[in-house]
Amino acid sequence: MIPRAVLALACLAVAATGLAAPRPGTVGPPGKAAVDTCLDCHRSLDETRLSQPAEQAATDIHRLQGITCAGCHGGDPRAEDPEAAMNPALGFVGAIAPTAVPALCSSCHSDPSFMLRYAPNIPTDQAAQYATSRHGLALAKGDTRVATCTSCHGAHGVLPADDARSPVYPSRIVATCGRCHADAALMRAYGISGNEVADYQQSVHYAALTQKNDLSAPTCNDCHGSHGATPPGVSSVSNVCGTCHLTQRELFDLSPHKEAFASIEQPACETCHGNHAVHTPDDTWIGVGKDQVCGNCHVADDPGGQVAAQLAARLTGANSAIAATRERVARAERAGMLMDEALVQLEEAHQALVLARNQVHAAALAPLARETGSVLAAAAKADRLAQAAEDEIRFRRTGLAVSLVVILLAAVALLLKTRSLER
Ligand code: HEC
Ligand code: HEC
Ligand code: HEC
Ligand code: HEC
Ligand code: HEC
Ligand code: HEC
Ligand code: HEC
Ligand code: HEC
Ligand code: HEC
Repeated sequence: MIPRAVLALACLAVAATGLAAPRPGTVGPPGKAAVDTCLDCHRSLDETRLSQPAEQAATDIHRLQGITCAGCHGGDPRAEDPEAAMNPALGFVGAIAPTAVPALCSSCHSDPSFMLRYAPNIPTDQAAQYATSRHGLALAKGDTRVATCTSCHGAHGVLPADDARSPVYPSRIVATCGRCHADAALMRAYGISGNEVADYQQSVHYAALTQKNDLSAPTCNDCHGSHGATPPGVSSVSNVCGTCHLTQRELFDLSPHKEAFASIEQPACETCHGNHAVHTPDDTWIGVGKDQVCGNCHVADDPGGQVAAQLAARLTGANSAIAATRERVARAERAGMLMDEALVQLEEAHQALVLARNQVHAAALAPLARETGSVLAAAAKADRLAQAAEDEIRFRRTGLAVSLVVILLAAVALLLKTRSLER
């Protein structure tokens, strides 16, 4: 444990070094809005190009932290006179070129002692990572069609990454990257298809993100990184998927495919599932037929093809056992029987089937067969309960019929008796 007092002293020391050399444009202490003649004048200008940055200042994280226009553009933010304010001798830069953007942003964002005063938890490696990305490498060569910091964050009205209105918020990333990556003409120039966005938008991941609002589903930057945006290399692809799909990764890693795929230079998950258009798979994928995944590498009579046929048969068998029993149980329920215990068994069977489907990734018969065995056992229990319920229904119906006949006979006898008495 570091004593509080030492921490406080350390913070003071850091703050003091920062304050000793105030950055231009960072007028006022962090968090306090500063004097800003740039803002006041630009707000009143007619041309949208000139006034919009000032209007966007209302929500700008920099502005809220006391950083003025001059923090990025230089100049004197206290001068009323435009020439004095926008004086190049005071470092004023009006139009900031795309190639100058990373250096500008990183002048603060890569300076840990400066950033510490405002937001100690925010990393300071964005520019370093960006420099290694395809975007950064191309920009360094003077290509201004790639993304720079402002392509993804904007220059004005910059919002914290966790603000739902930010262009880098998970639900908005697709549109942000898509501005360039869905532009097929632009992408063709780099030998990239430009289908990535459209493909991703058909995926189960995109559906989860947009329809179920499930922020744990991946969007572009979860797989590619935010600042180091480079496609994961062949060997890291299964790592990307496996960071979320742990069970499938573990099973795959223990399977004969782990080494086999590496030796034929196939990525892991992507080989069967694709990368962008990832769909919900099902039992019909397994096999060596047309449109079935194993058929890309196996034929019906090699060991892989034979196992594939067995896996498919077992899953189909387990699936239809559940379906048939479910129907039988539902019929008994409709007849008024309490079927709770059978429903528990059916749920157990369903869970075992989920585990069996996971086991496809082991590319072996035994573990899957064990799970489908459990499916069949639980379904059989439910089936026996349904059978008992059907017997009970039959018994009650017979009982009912017998008592109806008895009542009817008694009524007839009574009628005859009253008639004879009347006579
Ligand atoms: C009194 C009004 C006034 C003040 C104060 C002022 N500006 Fe301007 N600014 C203008 C006008 C008018 C223009 C457009 C004409 C021009 O480029 O000179 C402009 C242009 C700009 C441009 C665009 C330059 C370009 O080449 O496209 C930037 C950036 C800018 N100002 C930033 C600032 C900053 C930063 C400050 C404060 C340090 C500031 N301005 C202070 C009026 C002002
Ligand atoms: C976080 C850094 C940053 C801050 C703070 C900032 N700007 Fe800018 N500004 C830029 C960058 C970078 C550009 C270049 C365009 C781009 O990359 O989007 C720019 C461009 C401009 C332009 C030219 C727009 C055009 O389309 O030609 C104007 C005008 C301008 N800024 C005014 C301001 C004013 C006024 C303020 C204060 C309210 C301000 N800026 C604050 C980074 C900043
Ligand atoms: C003068 C220093 C300075 C410059 C230059 C600067 N920033 Fe910032 N930036 C800050 C500070 C300080 C914060 C506040 C940190 C906080 O409170 O979250 C911040 C916050 C941010 C945030 C929000 C982080 C979060 O998620 O909370 C983003 C995004 C950002 N800046 C992007 C940029 C971009 C892009 C540029 C270049 C166009 C830039 N910054 C230039 C100082 C600067
Ligand atoms: C290709 C798009 C893209 C580019 C280019 C980009 N960023 Fe980001 N940035 C993101 C995304 C997405 C996030 C949010 C997810 C995260 O924090 O990784 C983010 C987060 C941030 C944050 C907040 C970090 C945090 O952990 O809270 C800062 C600060 C930031 N970026 C600064 C920069 C700077 C500076 C540059 C230029 C050197 C830059 N970004 C370039 C997409 C981008
Ligand atoms: C301003 C346009 C623009 C934006 C916005 C943009 N990119 Fe890019 N991106 C490009 C261009 C152009 C290239 C091609 C660079 C090259 O190959 O030299 C590229 C390359 C890439 C690559 C490398 C592809 C390859 O194999 O060559 C990946 C991955 C990538 N971008 C991901 C992203 C992600 C993720 C986002 C959003 C967080 C994003 N990009 C936002 C323009 C953009
Ligand atoms: C689930 C993970 C995942 C998601 C989400 C994802 N990607 Fe990819 N992306 C990959 C993988 C894996 C590759 C292939 C790498 C390889 O084959 O070398 C790839 C390749 C790419 C490439 C290079 C294509 C080429 O032909 O060279 C680009 C560009 C790209 N993705 C952009 C995007 C964009 C934009 C988004 C968001 C709309 C996105 N990706 C979402 C995993 C993902
Ligand atoms: C950031 C975490 C994350 C990453 C990375 C990720 N996924 Fe997913 N994946 C999810 C989530 C969450 C769902 C659940 C969507 C739903 O059904 O609601 C999902 C669903 C799926 C499904 C459909 C499952 C079903 O039963 O419908 C498949 C298949 C899949 N992912 C494969 C992949 C592949 C292949 C990759 C790598 C290219 C990958 N995932 C990367 C989180 C992730
Ligand atoms: C050899 C082809 C193949 C490879 C490689 C593969 N999968 Fe699958 N995966 C399938 C098949 C087939 C199914 C469908 C099983 C079913 O529903 O019967 C599936 C199902 C899934 C599901 C849905 C849930 C489940 O387990 O049934 C997820 C999630 C998934 N895979 C993720 C991954 C991940 C992550 C990797 C990489 C570690 C991967 N897969 C590698 C063929 C493959
Ligand atoms: C990308 C190619 C590829 C795909 C797709 C693929 N496999 Fe394989 N598989 C191989 C290779 C390579 C080997 C190792 C060499 C061999 O035994 O054929 C292998 C081995 C196997 C083995 C072990 C065979 C033995 O000799 O013991 C089984 C079982 C297997 N695969 C089942 C499957 C099933 C089931 C699927 C579909 C869900 C599938 N494979 C999809 C390439 C593939």
